[in-house]
Amino acid sequence: MHPLVDIQAVSKRYGAVQALNQVSLQIGAGERVAFVGANGSGKSTLLRALVGLVRVQGRVLLAGVDVAKSPEIALRQVAYMPQVAPPLDVPVAELTKTILSLRGVAPDRASAIARQLGVDWDQVKGKALRDLSGGTKQKILAAVALASQAPLLVCDEPTANLDAAARDPFFELVRQRPAGSALVLCSHRRDEVAQLVDRVVELSEGVVLRDGPAGEVLAAAGSALWTRPQGSPDGVEVHA
Ligand SMILES: Nc1ncnc2c1ncn2[C@@H]1O[C@H](COP(=O)(O)OP(=O)(O)OP(=O)(O)O)[C@@H](O)[C@H]1O
Ligand SMILES: [Mg+2]
Repeated sequence: MHPLVDIQAVSKRYGAVQALNQVSLQIGAGERVAFVGANGSGKSTLLRALVGLVRVQGRVLLAGVDVAKSPEIALRQVAYMPQVAPPLDVPVAELTKTILSLRGVAPDRASAIARQLGVDWDQVKGKALRDLSGGTKQKILAAVALASQAPLLVCDEPTANLDAAARDPFFELVRQRPAGSALVLCSHRRDEVAQLVDRVVELSEGVVLRDGPAGEVLAAAGSALWTRPQGSPDGVEVHA
């Protein structure tokens, strides 16, 4: 039986920058994992490698299928929420309908989730994705990713631009996914990591520094990794 995600000795160099250096790890079905680390530590590059958006040395297998060699098969497993929304000129309703119908999912599932995240669907459905505010774009991407019900949900800083009113509904929607579906996210928000995952992988300069149960890694990781929540000027008064 193949693991859901099998990252084998993955390296990525951008010019002089070694973004990833021989990263190997496995993630099983139903596991919920966060990649954490300082800016530039390689989190997004690793997520992008996982969803076949960046060419790497080494291999990434999803349910035993090589993402670089057979993306159209491997990526059936995955829904991906990028850190920065692509500047698409397509109206929101058309975009969600196209993506979800390819996955055999009813498009109104995305509009229902978007509304739960506080989106005024009737107001945004005819607008181009690129013309929405950063937070609204993120809510639309979250709605599509959550609606698609893929076995693996991959989210790059999913709540970084969300208003406080949307954050709890987002956490709840992620928790409501079926028990067997896995989650991989990267985050600078300690609350997000503590609420959503069981396992934390800490990256530092493109290598895995720590990998273990969320409580242990969160206790060991430095407070400098986290954005500072309101009312916590030194960034340490966040509850795991
Ligand atoms: N397309 C690119 N071209 C050149 N360098 C890149 C590119 N993408 C990433 N890098 C470099 O690779 C390193 C890792 O970047 P990455 O985006 O993976 O970091 P990150 O951990 O996601 O950081 P952040 O917390 O800021 O989102 C950085 O030094 C970055 O400048
Ligand atoms: Mg990033």
